Amino acid sequence: MIVPTSTLFEHAYGKYAVGAYNINNLEQAMGLFRGCIDSQAPFIIQISKGARSYTDKRMLEAIIRAADVIFPEALFAVHLDHGDEATALECVESGFYSSVMIDASHHSFDENVAITKRVVDAAHARGISVEAELGMLGGVEEDIQVDEKNVCLTDPDEALAFVKATGCDSLACAIGTSHGAFKFSGQQGIHFDRVKAIQELLPNYPLVMHGSSSVPQDEVARINEAGGDIRGSKGVDPEQYLPAALLGVCKVNIDTDGRLVWTRVHREFFRDKPGEFDLRPPGKVFMAEYAKFIASRNTYLGSAGQLEGARAHAVSKG
Ligand code: G3H
Ligand code: 13P
Ligand code: ZN
Repeated sequence: MIVPTSTLFEHAYGKYAVGAYNINNLEQAMGLFRGCIDSQAPFIIQISKGARSYTDKRMLEAIIRAADVIFPEALFAVHLDHGDEATALECVESGFYSSVMIDASHHSFDENVAITKRVVDAAHARGISVEAELGMLGGVEEDIQVDEKNVCLTDPDEALAFVKATGCDSLACAIGTSHGAFKFSGQQGIHFDRVKAIQELLPNYPLVMHGSSSVPQDEVARINEAGGDIRGSKGVDPEQYLPAALLGVCKVNIDTDGRLVWTRVHREFFRDKPGEFDLRPPGKVFMAEYAKFIASRNTYLGSAGQLEGARAHAVSKG
């Protein structure tokens, strides 16, 4: 059942975080739904601008509609990840998305406010909620690369002013994480002091943590042993998800980790079966492995076991 993102946040706030997982194909969708049912977790399925143009946006939307029928027990929201203004408005108009992200964080504060406000006005007119971003995460997002020196953590006073000026429903904050597989060179991690300071000024307001993949080191080792070369990659300690959730982080974005599972499964499969050329056998292994991975993340997030409570909340909201 597709529900408003805000309904999931209301149930999660201060207790657990909802996993927000990107999909690009049907195998990811099947693994995601299966993993969330197995762990009894509500979730957010998200489609990036790049994912929308990978084949045809209608293909991924149709996969989600089909998954909703195949897994009637599932409780989830559909979200546009890292939209620009045109894409966010298009998704609002489509009526399919529970929420959209407008990411104008690379613009000046005033420009970011102006762009975000236009999207919020259009989205709210159709009952759709909006995630905006303030601050600058490091790493690569589709066509934008941010170097370590240009990363800037979200300023709590600016966050308050931004939310007041735009009316956005949730805020992606730069709190020390970054996109991709190479997040940290040393022992860095989430800046909890910054999350706390933002929560103090924005109590009961849903915060979003991007760049949350944990880049499991056993996964990295297996990929490298099977012919890959992603030495030096490092992610967020998943034990930090729940402490962040207790400080108001309601949505934790995980994409890179899914790509790592895909890479490990396919590298190992074709290394071990050099005569194989059918795509379905490794696809089946991937779906099963991805489902296991998703269930394990939901356990770290605290969303595992929350499905029935979240459903009751959603039903009570009508
Ligand atoms: O934050 C970015 C997400 O990982 C989506 O990546 O734009 O390559 O689909 P993508
Ligand atoms: P990762 O690259 O850490 O998976 O972050 C994904 C993300 O933030 C999607 O918006
Ligand atoms: Zn992101």
